[in-house]
Amino acid sequence: MSCIDDKLGVQLLQPVIGVAIGALVLLSKWNEIWYRVTNKSLPLPPGTMGWPIIGESIPFMKYGADFITAHRTRHGNIFKTHLFGKPAVICTDTSVNKYILSSESKGNFLLGYPQTFFEMMGKWSTFSLYKSEHKAMRGAFISLVNGPVLRDRILTKIDEFMQSYLHNWSDKILDMQKKSNELILLLILKLVASKKENIASTKELEEGLHQVFLAFFAPAINLPGTKYNKGLKARRKLVQMFGNIIEERRASVCNRHNDMLDTLLENSEYSKDCVIQFTDEQIIDQIFGIVLSGYATTSYVLMMAVKYLYDHPHVKEALRKENLEIRKGKPEDYSINWDDYKSMSFTRAVVMETLRMSSLPGFFRRTTEDAEIKGDTT
Ligand code: HEM
Repeated sequence: MSCIDDKLGVQLLQPVIGVAIGALVLLSKWNEIWYRVTNKSLPLPPGTMGWPIIGESIPFMKYGADFITAHRTRHGNIFKTHLFGKPAVICTDTSVNKYILSSESKGNFLLGYPQTFFEMMGKWSTFSLYKSEHKAMRGAFISLVNGPVLRDRILTKIDEFMQSYLHNWSDKILDMQKKSNELILLLILKLVASKKENIASTKELEEGLHQVFLAFFAPAINLPGTKYNKGLKARRKLVQMFGNIIEERRASVCNRHNDMLDTLLENSEYSKDCVIQFTDEQIIDQIFGIVLSGYATTSYVLMMAVKYLYDHPHVKEALRKENLEIRKGKPEDYSINWDDYKSMSFTRAVVMETLRMSSLPGFFRRTTEDAEIKGDTT
């Protein structure tokens, strides 16, 4: 009797397994079938689109550059995928990327970061705005870091800061990743708001920024313990922190600090097309953008610079020689100026090469209508 039951069970199980496998195969191809059927105008680029809704977001987030390299090897420089709930095309072709960035003003390629990224950056961040508002906020940002400001204010401040920060580093074993993060965060606070914080007092800020970074590309599930939820909470705390800095500045007896906050509070008009009286909310988002964008990128590049110099001691020696040369005959606390920097051709070459090797500049854009790129629809 039990032998007959077993046989019946196996006979019933086989079609169930078959249907389940068929359903899984169909689901794994669902996105590709769906977009092929609904898009008849031009062929889509080669590539795979993963599972419904999540697409290939998980391997993309997990493997990053390796995901892109593996797909590029299989499908070429332009391939389709499905990321953060939307169909996407990844393009590693320099000339096409140049074309996309230069077409921005025509309005057919707009910023296309996932919704969570916009939410974390804030609605007044340059990453969240379009057209005249974007132009105005970007103008405000450029006014803080343009050539003359870099030359007359920022360079000297950076040099002074580095001299005081590095003075007790010699003959020590240091965790460069940790040190680069600390150094860049303290430097940004100095440049933005003349803050002379110590490392202990930036711990909360560092932790908050970390939570916000983790939430950038996380699913927008607002439940206790999710990355998105933690990111939102951290953002609220940071907004409060930056708000307090503005309040402190307004209450300050010293009128001029010569920093980015001074410029943001004093200047309210940046564009002929769009006159904006910056509110505190806008200034906070602007500071937020500078701290976030500047911190994550520059601390990584700095850490890599140290690694490259360690790997190439002859470059380190030549760099050292040029830097010592420029300070020869000058007082010990001499801060280098723009002319000094311009004359340091080897140092500048090292900076450029480090940026080239360590940066992974990528950008997200969305198309406002189907675009044909090298014969495929994007
Ligand atoms: C090695 C260092 C850096 C790298 C590799 C880097 C990379 C990038 C890239 C690729 C973009 C374009 C994003 C897009 O258009 O979608 C961008 C934009 C931006 N970055 Fe950086 N960045 C660096 C340093 C900084 C620093 C130090 C700051 C702040 C002082 C900063 C502030 C910004 C801002 C505000 C934008 C948005 C500009 C706009 O809306 O047009 N970045 N960055």
